Amino acid sequence: MADGAQVNDVISTEVLGEIALICIDNPPVNATGLAVREGLSQAFADLNATAEVKVIALYCAGRTFTAGADIREFGKPPRQPSLPDVLNQIEQSAIPVVSVIHGTALGGGFEIALATHARVAIKGAKVGLPEVLLGLLPGAGGTQRLPRLTGLSFALDVILSGRQVPVAEALDKGAVDRLVEGAPRDVALAAAQQVIDGTLATRRTDLIEAEYDRAVLDATLAGVRQKTPHLFSPIKCVEAVAACNLPITEGLKVERQAFLDCMETPQRAGLIHAFFGERAVSNIAEAKGPTRDIAKIGVIGGGTMGSGIATSCLIAGIPVRLIEVASEGLQRGIATITKNLDGAVSRGKLSSDKRDAAMAMLEPSLQMESLSDVDLVIEAVFEQMDVKKEIFGKLDTICKPGAILASNTSYLDVDEIAASTSRPGDVLGLHFFSPAHVMRLLEIVQGKQTAADVLATGFALAKRLKKVGVLAQVCDGFIGNRILAHYGLCAAYLVLDGASPQQVDRALEDFGFAMGPHKVGDLAGLDIGWMTRKRKAETRDPAQRYAGDIADRICENGWFGRKTGQGYYLYDSGYDSGAPVPNPEVAEIIDAVRADKGITPQDFTDDDIVDRYMTAMIVEAARVVEDGTAKRPVDVDMVFLFGYGFPRFRGGPLHYADTIGAAALVARIEAYAAEDAHYWQVPDILRKMAADGSTFADLNKEG
Ligand code: COA
Repeated sequence: MADGAQVNDVISTEVLGEIALICIDNPPVNATGLAVREGLSQAFADLNATAEVKVIALYCAGRTFTAGADIREFGKPPRQPSLPDVLNQIEQSAIPVVSVIHGTALGGGFEIALATHARVAIKGAKVGLPEVLLGLLPGAGGTQRLPRLTGLSFALDVILSGRQVPVAEALDKGAVDRLVEGAPRDVALAAAQQVIDGTLATRRTDLIEAEYDRAVLDATLAGVRQKTPHLFSPIKCVEAVAACNLPITEGLKVERQAFLDCMETPQRAGLIHAFFGERAVSNIAEAKGPTRDIAKIGVIGGGTMGSGIATSCLIAGIPVRLIEVASEGLQRGIATITKNLDGAVSRGKLSSDKRDAAMAMLEPSLQMESLSDVDLVIEAVFEQMDVKKEIFGKLDTICKPGAILASNTSYLDVDEIAASTSRPGDVLGLHFFSPAHVMRLLEIVQGKQTAADVLATGFALAKRLKKVGVLAQVCDGFIGNRILAHYGLCAAYLVLDGASPQQVDRALEDFGFAMGPHKVGDLAGLDIGWMTRKRKAETRDPAQRYAGDIADRICENGWFGRKTGQGYYLYDSGYDSGAPVPNPEVAEIIDAVRADKGITPQDFTDDDIVDRYMTAMIVEAARVVEDGTAKRPVDVDMVFLFGYGFPRFRGGPLHYADTIGAAALVARIEAYAAEDAHYWQVPDILRKMAADGSTFADLNKEG
């Protein structure tokens, strides 16, 4: 072999006397797609047949070691050589192989390293097996080799959490052998020389006997069943690891079968849709292009929302000027921000140094005029158009030219707000979700006149705040709250017509929602919905059956949920109580309302409840796509995953809709319409999809 050879487009080798280097160069993240597997297999075969080579060092070009399998290949027919076969070939190489890890060695990437005979990591790198987060398990020996190197407990933790492990911890546990500084190729050369000199030991992982403890495995399995009762792949992960006491060829067979079982599941498809969806939402023209610099942000309003937004900006290292009208409100805002930051420290999300630095960047003020030097203002006062217009009118006179003026409104008309300024091009909606420093969704609402660089700055801000920015057009409620308003009615009809709030909650929690809608209502405050119903009373469509009687009566009693100690459930000690107990008096209210309205309660099964609720959500979600409020179905899906506690493994409402199919959905809606033809109407887009057999996934591809 020549000194330097390009094996194929992505693999190259260099032979430098007794040392051979193999480099993977497959941007952006060196995923182990077909060309990488073919090239590696070829390179190892060639180098093993090269007489002078005494050691092989494997490293990657670019920003990272390999980030694992090419996720885009999943679900397609497998192409040979498979990664497990290539890794067996590497492990059995007669010539010792050392791998050099930089960036993130994830999934199949880390598995490559585990199959080599020594691992040298460059400081700052991370390793991990994140397959479980995609509904899979490590399918190229990770479940067999990691426990052999580190013992069961650490291996189970890494495989079941999918977390990225700092290399210092990996070194401590035996998953890597040495931690160094330097550039990958230099480190590879040095490590190879150390193998030759005998100062870096090599050994075959498959020949190590795994520490085995049935009790640890049993306890882990029980824990998984309890913690993630809906998920399939964590169970399969434990089953595969449990085979690490077998000869590796047998263990690998168990792992392969478990991997294939996971690959077949809708959960795998849902989680991979979520992985790409999270990235797709900002992969649009509107998110790209020139942006404006944001060095300082003004937040108007020190309530829960404004304080949460300020907290989020401060954590991201952006100075915030917080405005309130009265000093009491300002003090409350400062106290809330302090509490939020302290909470982040106690959850291990923030160091105390960073908390102190964040607090030092907060400038509270009672003067709106002090916003004259900020680059972006986010208004987060209560939802009243007059108030917002007045504030924006003032901002127009105070803020410097080019400053961006954003409203955190959750449903009001951003164009009307913009019209109260002389610079509507600088105005957009930035709709955060409560608690704003925790929830990752940010709806970026485009007004008719919002300038392109203002919109792109919204996306850049989302990224700085580590949020998922989703583009939405103006309408009542934008993407999320508009859909919520529709399926919220369905939940209310279900209770009116025969289900109990607890049954609805339980059915939806069993489906995978973190909390049923009544528990969410109690948490958010039932007065919010009450105010909305009152606000909309005058414009309510008389043809639409009213669904608010039960909730209205609950609110009339002053029961607003957790903050008042009772709502649909009873809360012993306010916010911090444990599992809530159904409120018996709510059951009485329900009976009374049904009697007043002459409703004979029906029996709903849990499946009926889920089907109706999900169909209602899909109906409005389809309309939101149809009228362009959301750009594509995937945008709706991400809104629900990141803002509404939708079960990630189901991918989002419209990904889920595809698993049912448009024709079946149309049939369902038509059947429900026999009871209520006004509420249950088939959206045109769904009817068309049923007719031509197309899917929401097709629309994502087109979009
Ligand atoms: N297969 C295919 N494409 C991948 C990929 C993979 N394993 N990992 C990342 N990509 C793509 C992303 O989709 C993105 O593409 P885009 O630019 O077209 O949107 C690009 O690589 C960069 O990824 P991104 O996540 O935006 O970069 P990052 O620097 O923030 O993070 C990683 C890098 C590697 C940490 C992150 O991409 C990641 O966690 N990848 C998945 C790793 C994994 O789960 N591996 C196991 C697979 S079984």
